[in-house]
Amino acid sequence: MPHYTLKVNGQVRAVDVPEDTPLLWVLRDNLQLVGTKYGCGQGLCGACTVHLDGTAIRSCQLPVNAVGNMAVTTIEGLSATAAHPLQHAWCEHDVPQCGYCQAGQIMTAAALLKTNPHPSDEDIDGTMAGNLCRCGTYLRIRAAIKDAAAAPQGAK
Ligand code: FES
Ligand code: FES
Repeated sequence: MPHYTLKVNGQVRAVDVPEDTPLLWVLRDNLQLVGTKYGCGQGLCGACTVHLDGTAIRSCQLPVNAVGNMAVTTIEGLSATAAHPLQHAWCEHDVPQCGYCQAGQIMTAAALLKTNPHPSDEDIDGTMAGNLCRCGTYLRIRAAIKDAAAAPQGAK
């Protein structure tokens, strides 16, 4: 079984898995980082979104052998104290319903704010369109992203 050394949430993690194992399953099954969710497995729902060198990617679509030296960040690593402005805004707006899609939503939003600290409604809707929510929390997601962007500490 191939051996991989991955940088995940600021730590070096070693796994022995088949080379075509999706990063999603490495995170969940091998590293017990279960905040990242399996939704469709087809790159269509965004539930599995994590950051790869700061860019939001679908971890269900990325084989482990393509990660290389790039830094993986999951919802568990977004903030050591859950104090990211988005996490604060998510609580303020009571965004989650069932919660299943929310880690992916927050990771996509965090990547957006890194490149566009003050997004318009259109920017938010365009970026978040690939993250589906069966509970229909879209309006609260947009409001929370705008609040996080306006927070004094800014988007981290
Ligand atoms: S589980 Fe990866 S996009 Fe749906
Ligand atoms: S909160 Fe239930 S799927 Fe989004």
